[in-house]
Amino acid sequence: MRKPMMAGNWKMNKTVPEAVALARQIHALAGSSEGVEQLLCPPFICLHALKALTEETSFSLGAQNCHWEESGAYTGEISPAMLRGLADYVIIGHSERRQLFGESDENVNRKARAALAHEIRPVVCVGESLEQNERGQTGETINRQVRAALDGLSGAQVQSTIIAYEPIWAIGTGRAATAGTAGEICGQVRAILREMHGEAAADAVRILYGGSTKPDNIGAIMREPQIDGALIGGAALEAESYAEMVRITGELYGA
Ligand code: 13P
Repeated sequence: MRKPMMAGNWKMNKTVPEAVALARQIHALAGSSEGVEQLLCPPFICLHALKALTEETSFSLGAQNCHWEESGAYTGEISPAMLRGLADYVIIGHSERRQLFGESDENVNRKARAALAHEIRPVVCVGESLEQNERGQTGETINRQVRAALDGLSGAQVQSTIIAYEPIWAIGTGRAATAGTAGEICGQVRAILREMHGEAAADAVRILYGGSTKPDNIGAIMREPQIDGALIGGAALEAESYAEMVRITGELYGA
């Protein structure tokens, strides 16, 4: 069985002391929640301080981006070699990076490969824009993004990867996809994985939904058999709402 994951993408929020305080609050409320993986993805500069907390908590840690090169003249960038030992996961190809920072499918693939080479598990984000959605292009957009991101990866590498389906129109809008639609698209992602790498690999990959998830809708979303977790933005910045989502998920999975 795939272990459910509640992943908090903190985006460009929280100073180092604020990040430590939030992580402590979350731990106080959510505990170690054996059955649910709690992944915190703070800004880069907070990773070190949160890593120190993982000795007493059961958080997994993730970065929000990385470069694909090991090192070099790339001012302002962070390489997977630098993240090794500090981050268990790295979010790659978030729509904000694709839209605001010009990240291409090709670079998403480079980053995924580089992360895996350093034993950091990519959380690859895919999702259609409102315009693509309205034109009925959701399926083809997801298909292109998933195939491009995973191009050249082995079945074992794909099994270490997490895919997050985040429709752009649902991010930060308060308008989540319905659980049924989210489940259907996550099922399509799994069908693509099956075609690329076979049944066993596809069954092992965790697929998350992201976009306006909160305590009110997480139950319905997590009841969808093809959805293995959530990539949470706003609701992950408040300890109470994040911990509540962990609790609801744990209950559903009988943890
Ligand atoms: P919201 O949960 O704030 O809609 O953000 C989703 C997201 O982008 C997570 O990566």
